[in-house]
Amino acid sequence: MNSSVFSNNDKELINILAIESSCDETSASIISNGKILSNIIATQSVHQKYGGVVPELASRAHQQNVVPVVHQALSEANITKTMLSAVAFTQGPGLLGALLVGASFAKSLAYGLDIPLISVNHMQAHILAHFIDDPKPAFPFLCLTVSGGHTQIVKVTDYLEMEILGETQDDAVGEAFDKIAKVLGLPYPGGPAIDHMAQQGNPARFAFPDTVMPALDYSFSGIKTAFLNFLQREKSKDPDFVAQHLPDICASIQHKLIEMLLEKLRQASETTGIREIAIAGGVSANSALRKTLSERAETLRWKVYIPPLVYCTDNAAMIAMAAHYKYLKADFESLQASPDPRLHFGR
Ligand code: KG4
Ligand code: ZN
Repeated sequence: MNSSVFSNNDKELINILAIESSCDETSASIISNGKILSNIIATQSVHQKYGGVVPELASRAHQQNVVPVVHQALSEANITKTMLSAVAFTQGPGLLGALLVGASFAKSLAYGLDIPLISVNHMQAHILAHFIDDPKPAFPFLCLTVSGGHTQIVKVTDYLEMEILGETQDDAVGEAFDKIAKVLGLPYPGGPAIDHMAQQGNPARFAFPDTVMPALDYSFSGIKTAFLNFLQREKSKDPDFVAQHLPDICASIQHKLIEMLLEKLRQASETTGIREIAIAGGVSANSALRKTLSERAETLRWKVYIPPLVYCTDNAAMIAMAAHYKYLKADFESLQASPDPRLHFGR
């Protein structure tokens, strides 16, 4: 490892290049002394016609995008490669082939420049996105992390100290949004499509059954099946059911999913006594979730933290933020490191 990193004096800037490639966004960001200077995101539109992410195509698109995205991140930040103090990458969780592209690129660059390599857990990074801008949550806080692959309630006691209090035992809530949208004939990604359609709908129009899960864990496979059964039943009575009621269907199922998320979050706050509450991950972009959480904050006397939209879905700025805190602890990765599609942290 390059020893110059340990001789940083106060005047030396910590410039880190971070790369995110866990799913279908190729992103690169530069962070300088904890401040984000650039955050370039190339969204892969190739998956749209398949109604979901095709892993092989994702890897290929990352391979094409990574150099231009990194180049743009550096030039927008006015930083040259030789000014970098470290290179960070998403180690997991995510798609193996997609992760490999970012990991290999970061390793080669760190090796070539003889600077430290930093590995970042994507789910921790979603939470640390809260430290990019003000207002920042105070420790300890609870974070509901909701994405396409995860649904977790996390107790955060320090930047890199996190404990999972509860999580889904099957599907993630983002997956439920995406699959429900698919059967309704809405485009991929389904979450934003349902969100948009629900804005004209009545959330109390259709009711769905409750799912009972122990402690603070979630399950979304039951509600998904209940929704499919509901749709088949209604379509057998009226083949035009979806076309006639699409906004109400979207608003009602979205309302149910949000209620499920927030009820366990309420229980987590009650059992831990923590009232600093944050949300993170792609589904935290949902307008009804953001609104309901703000309303709940008043009745439950919570202080809530809702990230700006650009930091909800996948981006490299959040990876850069996590990398900054790891750099401060000299928590570096070996050049033999490889991605871990199921990378986990504390439970
Ligand atoms: O965090 P993310 O960008 O990628 C993963 O790490 O999975 O999350 C993607 C998920 C998808 O399931 C997408 O449908 C969902 O976030 N999503 C939304 C909204 N925007 C993105 N779900 C509901 N409402 C939205 N506005
Ligand atoms: Zn994500």
